[in-house]
Amino acid sequence: MDISFRLNGETVALHDVAPTVTLLDWLREDRGLTGTKEGCNEGDCGACTVMVTDDSGAHALNACILFLPQLNGKAVRTVEGIAAPDGTLHPVQQAMIDHHGSQCGFCTPGFVVSMATAHLNGATDHDVQLAGNLCRCTGYAPIVRAADAAAAKPVPDHMRDKPLLLAESIPGGAAKGGGGGQPPLTVQPTTTDALADWYMTHPHATLIAGATDVGLWVTKDLRDLGPIAFLNQCADLRGVTQTDGTLRIGATTTLTELERAVAPLYPSFAALIRRYGSVQVRNAATIGGNIANGSPIGDGPPALIALGATLHLRQGETRREIALEDFFLDYRKQDRAPGEFVEAITIPAQQDRLQCHKLSKRFDQDISAVCGCFSITLNDHRVTEARLAYGGMAGTPKRARQTEAALIGRPWSEATIRAALPALAEDFEPLSDMRASAAYRLQTAQNMLLRYWYADQGNAVNALEITA
Ligand SMILES: Cc1cc2nc3c(=O)[nH]c(=O)nc-3n(C[C@H](O)[C@H](O)[C@H](O)COP(=O)(O)OP(=O)(O)OC[C@H]3O[C@@H](n4cnc5c(N)ncnc54)[C@H](O)[C@@H]3O)c2cc1C
Ligand code: FES
Ligand code: FES
Repeated sequence: MDISFRLNGETVALHDVAPTVTLLDWLREDRGLTGTKEGCNEGDCGACTVMVTDDSGAHALNACILFLPQLNGKAVRTVEGIAAPDGTLHPVQQAMIDHHGSQCGFCTPGFVVSMATAHLNGATDHDVQLAGNLCRCTGYAPIVRAADAAAAKPVPDHMRDKPLLLAESIPGGAAKGGGGGQPPLTVQPTTTDALADWYMTHPHATLIAGATDVGLWVTKDLRDLGPIAFLNQCADLRGVTQTDGTLRIGATTTLTELERAVAPLYPSFAALIRRYGSVQVRNAATIGGNIANGSPIGDGPPALIALGATLHLRQGETRREIALEDFFLDYRKQDRAPGEFVEAITIPAQQDRLQCHKLSKRFDQDISAVCGCFSITLNDHRVTEARLAYGGMAGTPKRARQTEAALIGRPWSEATIRAALPALAEDFEPLSDMRASAAYRLQTAQNMLLRYWYADQGNAVNALEITA
C-alpha cells in the first residue's frame, strides 16, 4: 500500500509497502538508521523506542512491533533526530553524559527517546516512563537522575513534530492487491462503516489495531496474515464518551487513553492499567484488541466484567450487544462470527465499589498470574450484588458465580467473606504453569477477595504504600 509520514522532520512517501514490514526493520535496513536497536523484537525491552506524533500528541512506541502502515499521516522521530539539527545535544542526552547513564550503551538510544518524549510531555514520573526500557549494566539510578536533571530544561523547538495534514498524506484507501475489480487485500479504512463493508468481503481477514499481539505473530511466528485491515485511521472507532450514566469506550481506544478516562470514576481500574505492559505498550495496545484476542490472562476483561460491561459487536450493518462475560466461550474461543468485529464497550458510570488486584512476578511490564477485580454492592450493611471476575484462574476470564452466591444476602462482614472463600475452589480449577502453581493461584485469589474487605474498612492494602 501507499503511505506517507514524517521522519525526523522530513516527509517520506512510500509506495507498494508490504503491510507487515516493521518500522524497526525499515529504519535499520532501508534507511541505515541503526541507532534504533533490536533487543527482544517483541515489545519487552524498549531498545527500539521511537517517538510518534499524531493528532493526540507525542507517544513513545516500540518500533519492533509497529507496522509501517500504522504510521500513515504521523510523524516519527528516532534517536538520530533527538539532537538539534546543528548538533546541539538534547537536554536528556547531555544529562545522560553528565550523570553517567550509559555503560555498554545498547539500551541508551531507547532510553534517550523515552526520556525525550517524557520531557516533551512534561512527565516527571520517571519510574513509570522508563519501566518499558531495560538496562542490564548501568542500573537505573543514574538514568533516573539524568531524567530528573533534564526535566526543568526547555523543550527544543525541533522536538515539536506536527503530523502530516490529511491532504499531504496518502489516504490508506489507496491500498492495492485485490485485482480484477475485487476489494483490495490490505486496507486502512477511515470510517467504521467502510471497515464493516470491507470485512464482509474478507470475513477471515486479520484486523490490526495496536499490533501488540499481531506484531509478535509476524516477528516471532513468521505468520502470513492474509488480507489485513488496519483499524488505526477509523476515527469513529476510538475514544471515550460519557452520556446518561454510561461510559462508551471505542474499540481502538488505547490503554493510555483508557487509563486517563477511567481514573476519575474508577481509580483502582486506572491503577491496574498502570501495571499493564509499559508506557510503549499502553500507547499502542487497544482495549478492543485486549478483549478480542480472548486471552485468559488479559487485564482488561476482569475489570470490565466486574463493572458489568456490555460488548458491542458489528457485522456489516448488523449490530448486537452481549454481556462481556458471555463473549468468552472457552480457551481462545470467543462468540464472534467471521466478519464481525468489536465496535465498543460500555460500562455504567456507577458508584465506585471496584477494586482490582494484579499479581505478577514483576511489578512492571509483566503478564498477570492472577488478576482479580471485584465490585460488591451493599444496602443497609448487606450484600445485594457481587461481581467477582478473575483472569488467570480458568481458560477464559470468568466470574466466580458460586462465591458471588455465597456473599449475596449476607451481612457485610469479615466473617461473611471468610465463609465465602472456600467456594472459589468450586468456581475454579486453575492450572499450574511457569507463572504460578494451581495451589498458589487459588490461595492468592482468596487473599485478593479478603483484601477487598480490608481495603473497604480503610486499611492500606497496596504493597507499594508499605515502606521499609
Ligand atoms: C510487551 C508486552 C506486554 C504486554 N503486557 C500486557 C499486560 O500487562 N496485560 C495484558 O492484558 N496484555 C498485555 N499484553 C498483550 C497485548 O498488549 C494486549 O492483548 C493488547 O491489548 C492487544 O491489543 P492490540 O490493539 O495491540 O491488538 P492487536 O495485536 O492489533 O490485535 C489482537 C487481536 O485482536 C483482534 N482485534 C483487534 N481489534 C479488534 C476489533 N476491534 N474487533 C475484533 N478483533 C480485533 C486482532 O485481529 C487480533 O486477533 C502485552 C503485550 C506485549 C507485547
Ligand atoms: S526490540 Fe525489544 S521492545 Fe523492540
Ligand atoms: S548501558 Fe548496557 S544495557 Fe544499559
